[in-house]
Parts: sequence; C-alpha cells; structure tokens
Amino acid sequence: MSLRGRHLLSIEDLDVQEIELILKTARSFKEISTRPIRKVPTLRGKTVINIFFEPSTRTRSSFELAAKRLSADAVNFNVSTSSVAKGESLIDTGRNLQAMHPDLIVVRHSLAGAPALLATHCKGSCVINAGDGMHEHPTQALLDALTICEHKGRLEGLKVAIIGDIKHSRVARSNALLLRKMKAETWVCGPPTLLPVGFESYGVQVTHHMEEALTDADVIMLLRAQRERQQEIFYPSFKEYSMLYGLDRRKMKWAKPDAIVMHPGPINRGIEIDQEMADGAYSVILEQVSNGVATRMAVLFLLLGASEDPGI
Ligand code: CP
Repeated sequence: MSLRGRHLLSIEDLDVQEIELILKTARSFKEISTRPIRKVPTLRGKTVINIFFEPSTRTRSSFELAAKRLSADAVNFNVSTSSVAKGESLIDTGRNLQAMHPDLIVVRHSLAGAPALLATHCKGSCVINAGDGMHEHPTQALLDALTICEHKGRLEGLKVAIIGDIKHSRVARSNALLLRKMKAETWVCGPPTLLPVGFESYGVQVTHHMEEALTDADVIMLLRAQRERQQEIFYPSFKEYSMLYGLDRRKMKWAKPDAIVMHPGPINRGIEIDQEMADGAYSVILEQVSNGVATRMAVLFLLLGASEDPGI
C-alpha cells in the first residue's frame, strides 16, 4: 500500500487501510514535537508551498511546522501581496508556482473544488486540500480520528455527535465520510435551517434535538456558526441558538460520563460552546491542535514517499 505521489482532496480518496496507515504514521511522528530539537531529516530536499486564499490559524501553521519538522523547505504564498490581487486566476497562479517545481502544494480556498482544479492543472506536484468552501477538510477529519483513537482506543462502534452548522461545514462532511468508513455511529444535529436535506446520504443519523444526539454519546464535536458563509438569517438570535444547541453542563449530562468534547476551531465562546465545556476536563480541543502537526507530518511523509523508513 502506498500513498506516494497521490493527491489528498477528499476522504473519499482513502480506503480504511490507508486511513489506518496515516494514523499509525502520525502516532510515530508525535514524539518529534516533544524533543529539544524538533526536526528530522526525512523530507530534506523536498519543497512544500502553502497557498491559503482563506484565513487560517491552525491548518496553515501546522502544515508549515509539519514540513519544517521533517526538514522540507516550506514556502508560505501570501495571497494578498501576490499577483492574485492583480486578478491572476487560480489556474495561472498554480501553473506559475508549479513551474518552480514544488513537490507538494497545500491549498485552502473558499470555492469547493478549487484544490481538485489545481491538481488537474499542476502536473507533477501532489496537492492537499486544506479546506475548500463547504466541501471538505480531509486532514481535519484525520487529526480528529487520531484524537478520538487516543482517548477511546478505536472508532468502530462509537457514538459521535456532530452539532451545529452542518450546512456550511467542510469539517462535518469529511468527518462523516471518515467515520462511516471506520464504522462509527455518527449523529448530526442542528437547527433545520443549518442541516441540509439529504445529509443522511453521508451515512449519518439526523436529528434536530440535542438530547437525542447527545444521549450516550462517546464523542461530541461542536461546529462553529460560520457567519462568513451565512448570507441569510438561519436562527433568530445567538442567545436562542446557544440555548438550544450550545454545549453546557446541563446538556453534557446526556452524554456518557467519559465523553470527550471536540471543536475544530476557531471557537465562538458562549454560542456553540460555553467556557466551562471549552476549557474543562472533557475538552480535547488543544490536543486536536497538537495532533494536527503529527497528522500533517504523516500525510506529507506518505505522499512525498521520501523513504519507507521515516528515519526517526
Ligand atoms: N480547524 C481549522 O481549519 O482551523 P483554521 O481555520 O484556523 O485553519
């Protein structure tokens, strides 16, 4: 089994064995980030370009750190000071960057399908989707899977409740696809206006009632109310949204006593999650961020296939 030379555009690109390989490789890379010298020579001589057309704190930093910790050369392409500001198209931007022979391009874009378009036009480089519109965010689902496995030892048979703005969430889509492949029982829950008709086709159970979603849940994944993608009013007020769908101590009692609370970030504190749930004993939110570096190291390593031996 090899991911060498492939693109990672969607969780659909991966089978169960490949997901397990990424998680196993990520586990082996975690320790590097705790060493006094956080660097191994594994990807020396490889070049990674990060192109983020949308804001990012976690994904962009962790891809850059992942590349640097593996000794790859990481270039952060600054969209606002690039010729994109003069109207250069995505395809022309990609083809010009491609002419500089990067081994891998990481791209985030507000339009679903932009990374796939780049992959079609940039022959010779691997492309990773770091989030495209409302479509997918595959490395987020992989780092979430790693975090769940660390706490629960498995994915199969777990009840995972994904709560909030499902409609606009690429994280929800990638997680639903991954969790279905790994045989978890996934529930999605949110106001009817933020839950697209037909979402059952992702292999999930759909409810608008928090109690039903959270009862006996092993994992609770909150999603941000994505105000930048909401052109209409989807709920009467944040106060009402928070009362019905915000996670707090009262609603947490429906879940299993050892349930974990996750959030991909950034958090709207006081809306989808209160302070106590975001920072308290149930929360593994910052572990997700740490696992983001290891997971992206694993993906870079496996796609660039420097050697079967990571040299760590
Ligand atoms: N989880 C996530 O994608 O966060 P950023 O938008 O900060 O990258």
